[in-house]
Amino acid sequence: MAAGKGTRMKSARPKVLHKLAGRSLLQHVLDAVAGVGDPAGRHTIVITGHGAEQVEAACAGQGLRFARQMPQLGTGHAVQQAVPVLADGHETTLVLNGDVPLIRAATAQALADAAAGGALALLTIELADPFGYGRILREGSGADAPVRAIVEQKDATPAQRALREVYTGMMAAPTALLKRWVMALGNQNAQKEYYLTDVVAMAVAEGVPVVAVAAPDETEVLGVNSPHQLADLERRHQKRVADALMDAGVRLADPARLDVRGTLNCGGDVEIDVGCVFEGTVTLGEGVRIGAHCVIRDATIAAGAVIHPFTHIEGAEVGPGALVGPYARLRPGAVLGAEVHIGNFVEVKNSTLAAGAKANHLAYLGDATVGARVNYGAGSITANYDGANKHRTTIGDDVHVGSNCVLVAPVTLGAGATIGGGSTVSKDAPAGQLTVARAKQVTLPGWTRPKKPAKA
Ligand code: UD1
Ligand code: MG
Repeated sequence: MAAGKGTRMKSARPKVLHKLAGRSLLQHVLDAVAGVGDPAGRHTIVITGHGAEQVEAACAGQGLRFARQMPQLGTGHAVQQAVPVLADGHETTLVLNGDVPLIRAATAQALADAAAGGALALLTIELADPFGYGRILREGSGADAPVRAIVEQKDATPAQRALREVYTGMMAAPTALLKRWVMALGNQNAQKEYYLTDVVAMAVAEGVPVVAVAAPDETEVLGVNSPHQLADLERRHQKRVADALMDAGVRLADPARLDVRGTLNCGGDVEIDVGCVFEGTVTLGEGVRIGAHCVIRDATIAAGAVIHPFTHIEGAEVGPGALVGPYARLRPGAVLGAEVHIGNFVEVKNSTLAAGAKANHLAYLGDATVGARVNYGAGSITANYDGANKHRTTIGDDVHVGSNCVLVAPVTLGAGATIGGGSTVSKDAPAGQLTVARAKQVTLPGWTRPKKPAKA
């Protein structure tokens, strides 16, 4: 169910498209669903309504079906819209909420399994503060007492409101029964809505067993209604990720100051300082150290490399034992070989640096092929763009580029060449020789500085 507006988010974006750890709330639920049941026999239907086009576009290409709910008249009405798409041939239907992102596949599977024998299965939890939730009414007391109904907060008597076992909004039921039940729902209640939860009393009346499955932890069933709840779930999710990394031996300076928005794969003895953000798929080899406040996206960093603080890396590969940063920027297509050094305020884009090459200060390498052991001086840049086309710069092994050089591409510096500081190199430089391309220094004998006239 993903049709709700999410008024309390106070946002133009449909609620289920808000992001948690870089993925939409709805995508988290869909990813959990991908781990439930048999992929060949599973059909996933997303019920959209508010911002339907945007929501459907956001999860296109995943083999989903959509059912639109306009207007939104309650959770039972939402499931009614899916009835025409629900095939009778499907034994079990699992209903999940698009705004409850941290449900685990195993929990959803357990719920589906509990319904597989022909029962109605409800995911429930005991909350210290059950306000706002539907309460589970049982006949008698105790965890094994049979479930009779769910009563919504707004319809509950004071005695019912005192109950702390609540319905999480997730259920599983035999498909044929669920279809019949939801089509028979009425809306005679405090909110004049079609409540999906009324199917419980229908099941009981028909003698269909109702099973309450206890949710393993609160985090899995918490919903997002406000920016506060979104931020709370983000931290809970990040704690899960940090715990899993530490379980695998990763040393985090502070697990509360780590953000993984994607997948972070780590070898042994990895250390990560505070304030780092990892996006997309990032792989850190054995013994890699990441300094404070780095942002790293879609990158592979090989064993023993050290990334100093405040470095940004995106779409790049860092070789074994390389040193990068502080304040370095590796952009897409940067490929650093073993033991390469990239220092402060150096930007590398779409360039390959062979083993041992160094660019330690204030430099730009774009569309360049840099040989082994090259020393690339402070303030030097590749002028790779003529306003329309990008051109390559090729720097041979053991080249020494002095400070403040402009390498006007396309240009090739032969192996072992030395380029004098301050040169603007627009023609190929031969191997093994000194090339200087700057105005000659002159000294004018007898020249005197202008003087201001003396004040009266
Ligand atoms: C629902 C349950 C309540 C449960 C709570 C758990 C009902 C009647 N009540 O209440 O027992 O404790 O969830 O969070 O089901 N939605 C639609 N179309 C609609 C209305 C809702 O798609 O017309 C979707 C929402 O986008 C959301 C989900 O259904 O994903 C739950 O809706 P919400 O309004 O939050 O239900 P609650 O009143 O909280
Ligand atoms: Mg709700």
